[in-house]
Amino acid sequence: MILEARDLYTAYGLSQVLFGVAVTVDVGQAVCLLGRNGVGKTTTLRSLIGLTPPRAGHVVFDGMDITGWAPYRVARQGIAFVPQERRLFGDLSVRENLEVARRGTRGASAWGVERVYETFPILEQLDARRAGYLSGGEQQMLAIGRALMGNPRLLILDEPSEGLAPLVVDALCEHIRALKADGMTILMAEQNLTLALALSERVYILDKGHVRFAGTVAEFEADTTLRDEYLAV
Ligand SMILES: Nc1ncnc2c1ncn2[C@@H]1O[C@H](COP(=O)(O)OP(=O)(O)OP(=O)(O)O)[C@@H](O)[C@H]1O
Ligand SMILES: [Mg+2]
Repeated sequence: MILEARDLYTAYGLSQVLFGVAVTVDVGQAVCLLGRNGVGKTTTLRSLIGLTPPRAGHVVFDGMDITGWAPYRVARQGIAFVPQERRLFGDLSVRENLEVARRGTRGASAWGVERVYETFPILEQLDARRAGYLSGGEQQMLAIGRALMGNPRLLILDEPSEGLAPLVVDALCEHIRALKADGMTILMAEQNLTLALALSERVYILDKGHVRFAGTVAEFEADTTLRDEYLAV
C-alpha cells in the first residue's frame, strides 16, 4: 500500500465536509473517487496533500505519516496534484510551464521536458505556444505533464475530464492508461463514469462526506443500485 488515509474529518471553518473518509491506494493501481457535485471529492484530495489539513484522521504515504504536512513537503515526498482548475501559467509557453516545475536532480528514470513530450506528443508541437491559448484538452495534458516533472510516485488528478469534449476525453484516457502501463500509481476524482471505470482497479463512492461504497470495478458494476442512488443526476 503506497497511500493509506483513515478516518478523515475535514471542515472549512464551521462547515464540516468529511466525516471519517478512508482511502487506500496500492502501488501501480489506479483508484477513483466517484460522487455527485459537492460530496467532498476535492476536499478528500486536498486533505491528503495538506492543502486543507484534516481536523482528525491519518494520512500515511509510503510508510510515513504525512498528516497535515505542508503541501510543498508532501510534494517533495513524491505526491503530485493536478487541481480541478489546472492552474497553468497562461502567459508562459508550454515548455516554460514544464521547466518551472522541474525539481531535484535528474536520475535515469527522472521526468524531463523530453519525456513529457514523448508521453504527450501534441505538447511538443505546441512547445512555444502560450498555455493560455491551448484548448482544454491540451491544457489538461500540460497540467499532467507539469505534475510529472516533479517525479512523483503518486499522481493525483482532480476531475481530469471536466469540461472536455467526448473525443478529447477518449484521447486523455489513452494517455492516462499509458502512464499507468508505465508504472505510475494514480488516484483521481471523476464524474465521467466511463473514464473512471476504464482506468481504475478500485472505486470509492462519496456522498455527503461519507464513503458509501469501496470496492473493485467488478463489485461496483455488479451492484446497479449504486449508480441510481449516488451517481445518476
Ligand atoms: N473553500 C471552501 N470553503 C467553504 N466550503 C467549501 C470550500 N470548498 C468546498 N466547500 C464545500 O465543501 C463541500 C464539498 O466540496 P468539494 O469541492 O470537496 O466537492 P466535490 O465532490 O469535489 O464537488 P465537485 O464535483 O463539484 O468538484 C461542498 O458543500 C462545498 O460547497
Ligand atoms: Mg471537486
